[in-house]
Amino acid sequence: MTVSEGVPARVTIYEVGPRDGLQNERQTVPTQVKVALVDRLAAAGLPVVEATSFVRPEWVPQLGDAERVMAAIERRSGVHYAALVPNLAGLERAIGAGVDEIAVFGSATETFSRRNLNRSVGEAVEMFAPVTDAARAASVRVRGYVSMAFGDPWEGPVPEGQVAGIARRMADLGLDELSLGDTIGVATPGDVERVLSAVRAAIPDTRLAVHFHDTFGQALANVHAALRLGIDTVDAAVGGLGGCPYAASATGNLATEDVVYLLRGMGIETGIDLGRLVDTAWWISDQFGREPVSSVARALGRPSGATTGAACR
Ligand code: HMG
Ligand code: MG
Repeated sequence: MTVSEGVPARVTIYEVGPRDGLQNERQTVPTQVKVALVDRLAAAGLPVVEATSFVRPEWVPQLGDAERVMAAIERRSGVHYAALVPNLAGLERAIGAGVDEIAVFGSATETFSRRNLNRSVGEAVEMFAPVTDAARAASVRVRGYVSMAFGDPWEGPVPEGQVAGIARRMADLGLDELSLGDTIGVATPGDVERVLSAVRAAIPDTRLAVHFHDTFGQALANVHAALRLGIDTVDAAVGGLGGCPYAASATGNLATEDVVYLLRGMGIETGIDLGRLVDTAWWISDQFGREPVSSVARALGRPSGATTGAACR
């Protein structure tokens, strides 16, 4: 199959379901379910799995078992296991647990930064600086996020110059990659072109990724717009899991199986086995006693022989 003109021939899917997906679930998710989810995703061919968060457990109790998750997963060669880390206390825990990659997470807006990190935007960048230095010294890959890069529930639309400014400050930390987050899922393809162009002009040498939540059903169209601008790393969560406990209007992430189906149709390589991924979308949704929200998982249907039964309550 030929690849559509003007888009990358291969795309890396950065799977955030076990972290961004599960962090927002109200029901307690047993550690063994988290471990099985990470292992299933790695077995389905996901090259990077953001497995958990080493944040302050009082802030995100759902992921308070980060060390136990990392200790129990089956480490597959070729798969990168990543985790969110806000500060040196988190980095020490993450390195002790053997992560391959960390992600520091800044915000384009002051309100979300204070609500999510208990810090101003500037204080958060200062908090990340020794973290990124120490991670690099330990040969741990460093990703950064800029949340609220398209809109903020308290501050409204976010000007692209403001996003480019924080992207510059984050990139100056020496990141391997920066992911632009539509935390509350309000962006449309025109916004993607506008914001990506401004950020790329500000940090031409930093590898960019996109991270869309699907509140208004625009996430897949937004990925398509980003591909046309040459973006080759896309964040997604199996089954469309997701949300942010510190932004109530953040709904599920773009579903991994939906983006894999799109990319496959465009002749773009991901290395992911769509069948195994859809099985996993049904399996994790069954743990919560509900159907996957993603169109592709619903269209392909529940795998034969799968049993239902919720493990989380
Ligand atoms: P704080 O309350 O200001 O903490 O939280 P502190 O720095 O004042 O420290 C207080 C105590 O907590 C100290 O202990 C620290 O050691 C301990 P004490 O001295 O009192 O005994 N502590 C920790 N313990 C374990 N692990 C740690 C840790 N840090 C401090 N890492 C903090 C500040 C940044 C820690 C907090 O605000 C936090 O953890 N926030 C994380 C919130 C979060 O995870 N939100 C969801 C992820 S963001 C997201 O979903 C968006 C994204 O998906 C992209 C998008 O969608 O756009 C990434
Ligand atoms: Mg997110």
